[in-house]
Amino acid sequence: MRNERVRKVSVSLVVAIAFLTDLPLMTAAGHAEEIEATFKTQCGECHGPRDIHYWGRQRADAAVRQTWLEQFLRKHHPPSETEPGLIITYIQSMIARGATPN
Ligand code: HEC
Repeated sequence: MRNERVRKVSVSLVVAIAFLTDLPLMTAAGHAEEIEATFKTQCGECHGPRDIHYWGRQRADAAVRQTWLEQFLRKHHPPSETEPGLIITYIQSMIARGATPN
């Protein structure tokens, strides 16, 4: 369907724009709490925002960081129940937003 196609394209655009600007990605994607809860359940026991921002400082380039996270998380507590990409997207968006660690 033509309309369906247009809708999908615009959703991707919103996500891309949110990612490039400092808009909270989660609001745009509409899965904010779900993705954050996934991170907290699977990683939150040991990692918080401070760690996320530290990873951002370690690898300033988003593409380099993406590859690193994809490889690293295959062995390090591999996210099981959800698409691993979701957790990486969460980490990346936290860093992109540059929110103050708390
Ligand atoms: C049971 C505790 C635990 C859980 C759960 C856990 N980690 Fe870790 N993680 C660690 C420890 C310990 C380190 C090593 C700390 C260090 O030396 O930087 C680490 C390191 C990391 C690093 C940095 C590696 C580096 O080379 O600097 C990343 C990124 C990371 N974890 C992501 C995650 C993600 C994403 C999740 C959830 C899917 C997760 N971790 C779950 C304990 C945990």
